[in-house]
Amino acid sequence: MNPPNNPPIQTNLPARMPQLRVMPMPTDANIHGDVFGGWIMAQVDIAGAIPATRRTNGRVATIAVNSFLFKQPVFVGDLLSFYADVVRVGRTSITIYVEVYAERNRLEADTVKVTEATLTYVATDDNRKPRVIPDIASL
Ligand SMILES: CC(C)(COP(=O)(O)OP(=O)(O)OC[C@H]1O[C@@H](n2cnc3c(N)ncnc32)[C@H](O)[C@@H]1OP(=O)(O)O)[C@@H](O)C(=O)NCCC(=O)NCCS
Repeated sequence: MNPPNNPPIQTNLPARMPQLRVMPMPTDANIHGDVFGGWIMAQVDIAGAIPATRRTNGRVATIAVNSFLFKQPVFVGDLLSFYADVVRVGRTSITIYVEVYAERNRLEADTVKVTEATLTYVATDDNRKPRVIPDIASL
């Protein structure tokens, strides 16, 4: 429920919980003043690791960035929402699809999809070696 003194929420964001929400600062910009792609990649990696860790019930390491599309620029002050979903579970690896939306000018109605990526993580044990992902029924 929206608390009585908060403005109503009018959002074009997907109707599910993002894994991560974060706002890039001026220190995250490239030489042109837009947000540095490497900073966005780091946030995507963090967001993707959240469902990967949850599904594998333990630590994971990123083994591959399978695809990465910077569809729209990201600006300092955009409010970014990262949505991440499991798309494939292998023996020791798990593949996650991440979508990123920017609320421009901090207005939920002015929302654009800026980035999409697919990453693969490997479930690892305490010795950093691959471990078998548990069956979902056992979680
Ligand atoms: C992750 C790591 C432990 C995996 O060890 P490994 O001996 O290379 O793993 P394997 O060859 O047994 O492959 C493990 C899984 O990754 C998959 N995999 C390997 N290479 C891949 C690639 N290029 N793309 C996608 N998946 C890949 C394999 O298919 C296997 O999945 P499966 O068990 O579901 O079939 C090791 O590669 C590593 O430590 N890498 C560095 C990780 C890192 O530092 N990441 C950045 C910071 S988190």
